[in-house]
Amino acid sequence: MLGKLNHVAIVVPDLEAARAQYKAAFGADVSDPKDLPDQGVTAVMVTLPNTRIELLYPYGENSPIAKFLARNSLGGVHHLCFEVPDILAARDQLAQSGITVIGDGTPTPGYDGHPILFFNPKNTQGTLIELKQSGISQDVKVTIEDPAYKTQQNLEPPGGVTISFEGDFLGTTSERQE
Ligand code: CO
Repeated sequence: MLGKLNHVAIVVPDLEAARAQYKAAFGADVSDPKDLPDQGVTAVMVTLPNTRIELLYPYGENSPIAKFLARNSLGGVHHLCFEVPDILAARDQLAQSGITVIGDGTPTPGYDGHPILFFNPKNTQGTLIELKQSGISQDVKVTIEDPAYKTQQNLEPPGGVTISFEGDFLGTTSERQE
């Protein structure tokens, strides 16, 4: 089921300093900062030959990584992201192994616009796992046959904020790691 390691995410206390370090000291290819309001983070992607490092800083008042940063003032490794070919099948398969999704199980668009889900670290060796659906380019409409995606336009789902994804379906934001 698991495909490539898409990225390792590191929460940092100073995003610009971290970005400058990866660029100047490590000589890596770094992106500009990108706000992801739906995920409650600002992200910088460091592209390596075989994977990426996602530098994360809290965005907004209810950022899911704010508490993490409060507990880890120097920053630290936050999650691993693996690619899977079918995120809904992966979610359901993991559920059968007792690995529970965080939130209501509805994927939301991640950094690249691909659907992502997070899984409870209590079930995965204390490590937060993100799964990202592979193989969807940002300019291709996503259609996934799942009732959770059939959220109606302009209807705010319970317990979440309505967001749009490529104009094709709506999802909900979900609480991640405390
Ligand atoms: Co990530």
